[in-house]
Amino acid sequence: MATEKERLMENIVSLAKRRGFVFQGSEIYGGIAGMWDYGPLGVELAHNIKDIWWRMFVYNREDMYGIDASILMNPRVWETSGHTKTFSDPVIKCVKCKKQFRADQLDNKNACPACGGKLSKSQPFNLMFKTYIGATEDSDSISYLRPETAGGIFVNFKNVVDSMHPKLPFGIAQIGKAFRNEIAPRDFLFRLRELKQMEIEYFVRAEEWERAFEEWRLAMLAFAKEVGIPKKVIHELEVPESERAHYSKRTIDFEFDYPFGKKELWGLAYRTDYDLSRHAEASGADLTYFDEEENKRFIPHVIEPSFGVDRTFLAVLLSAYRVDEIKGEKRVFLAFKPAVAPIKVAVFPLLKNKPELVTKARNIYQMLKKHIPQIDFDDNGNIGKRYRRQDEIGTPYCVTIDFDTLEDNTVTLRDRDTTEQERVNEKNLLEILKKKLVSF
Ligand code: GAP
Repeated sequence: MATEKERLMENIVSLAKRRGFVFQGSEIYGGIAGMWDYGPLGVELAHNIKDIWWRMFVYNREDMYGIDASILMNPRVWETSGHTKTFSDPVIKCVKCKKQFRADQLDNKNACPACGGKLSKSQPFNLMFKTYIGATEDSDSISYLRPETAGGIFVNFKNVVDSMHPKLPFGIAQIGKAFRNEIAPRDFLFRLRELKQMEIEYFVRAEEWERAFEEWRLAMLAFAKEVGIPKKVIHELEVPESERAHYSKRTIDFEFDYPFGKKELWGLAYRTDYDLSRHAEASGADLTYFDEEENKRFIPHVIEPSFGVDRTFLAVLLSAYRVDEIKGEKRVFLAFKPAVAPIKVAVFPLLKNKPELVTKARNIYQMLKKHIPQIDFDDNGNIGKRYRRQDEIGTPYCVTIDFDTLEDNTVTLRDRDTTEQERVNEKNLLEILKKKLVSF
């Protein structure tokens, strides 16, 4: 029997598919492990998450610069950063059924959990995806799909300093794909092989790192609030030295209460001057910063707030999932904050077969769409069913055009969470909606 938490996860995966949020990658060919595709609503939800992140951490600050670096980089980047040597997980293979497991996640290392067969010795397995650039497949043409977006930021440090002349402390932000050949992808969007990250490298003077670390810790909690992840389901874990990445002097994992356990959502690391120093040494480029205030040159230290888009998406979905009862009927709804909701408003004509209602509703929809592009028009089925459909995808407001609208230009505005309805004048509708939707 599935536990309540397992059922919650099944419900989320099923809702995500049924309502166009997330589909299994290459589904019609039987899927592909560790890959999920975002559907029409998922792409909007992910877009809103990325948009809030960019607004909070780039637009609303004066010390941040955005970049968009290539996924394929010179392989020396990853040799220098230490990834070719140390970015690995321990793998164990079953001699009988050939299944592979992460050694650190196996309770019993003597028998295969799938078939009971004998297991091989644990060996490090590098998680970077290898590929070849150009027409020849030899060791000189090897490249890697980047395992973290951070690499693209470090190699562009000098370009940003030379072109933008930022004052220290300052940060470089990037949103993009990263790839990890995970041994055991699992738990829906939690452990993927193709993922998206939102990362910041925040450059500081060495003596400023502790203050900046604390500022970013608070900023990350503020972001959680903005996207609707409650504080009570986030736990900060001080990562012990033995478990920290090779470059880090201090790391906090922000863990989330997923139905499958308390696991990492985001990370905050103090990477010292490790990356810039190593890249300077290996490339010969001058990656120092001239500090006019102190009249000296040095390699800045770095604080790295790192967010997975997909894990944030999953945490936002799980945080919004609600079940209640309306007039004796079970209702499933997503209580998204308006800023993340993939559809902000849905417009309905009360009846589909009354052209005057449909025309009026379409006019109102077109007028609103110019200002609120994430909007839906629905004339299918009875009004109760339409409300339920919008509740299930987390649409905060529904507008219904009925016969009174034709008489007095008022419409019904319905609130998703309370299901309460109010009558508002058509000419005030846009302003009222704008006020209700602004949450940032
Ligand atoms: N630049 C630092 C870095 O990449 P990380 O802890 O390995 O650190 C940062 O990854 C974030 O990326 C994680 O906190 C998580 O949100 C996301 N992430 C990492 N691996 C992932 C995977 N296999 N699937 C989905 N998200 C992942």
